[in-house]
Amino acid sequence: MPGKPILISQSYPPSVVEHCSSRSACTAPVLEVSCTSCHTDNPAAAGKHRKTGKAIQPLAPAANPERLTDLAKVEKWFKRNCSDVLEGECTALEKGDVIAYLLSVK
Ligand code: HEC
Repeated sequence: MPGKPILISQSYPPSVVEHCSSRSACTAPVLEVSCTSCHTDNPAAAGKHRKTGKAIQPLAPAANPERLTDLAKVEKWFKRNCSDVLEGECTALEKGDVIAYLLSVK
């Protein structure tokens, strides 16, 4: 079972991300935003939007069968959320890590 990807377990200030050779090399203390700010630490649980407080359904397909079924939706939200959290789009590898992790959640 894949471990939790660094991408969803941590958040970085953009300045730190810029100066790291890779995101996994960045171990700065947690700051403003991470994926878990809205999706919680548990992908099988419902989250809450950090700004609007609106409920967000669980990210793991085990808990929410609609997840990861619509490519356009997945890409749209990766794009938006990665830009939000990391001020840049996620790489294919990062997205793959997140998806493998979400699929492993039972
Ligand atoms: C500011 C709040 C917020 C943050 C931060 C956030 N998300 Fe989201 N995310 C949302 C909302 C809102 C949706 C779309 C509503 C929904 O589908 O429930 C969404 C949808 C998604 C989806 C779509 C899944 C699908 O098939 O429906 C994925 C994947 C996702 N987020 C991953 C991430 C990752 C990875 C990060 C961190 C890089 C992240 N999110 C950070 C709010 C957030």
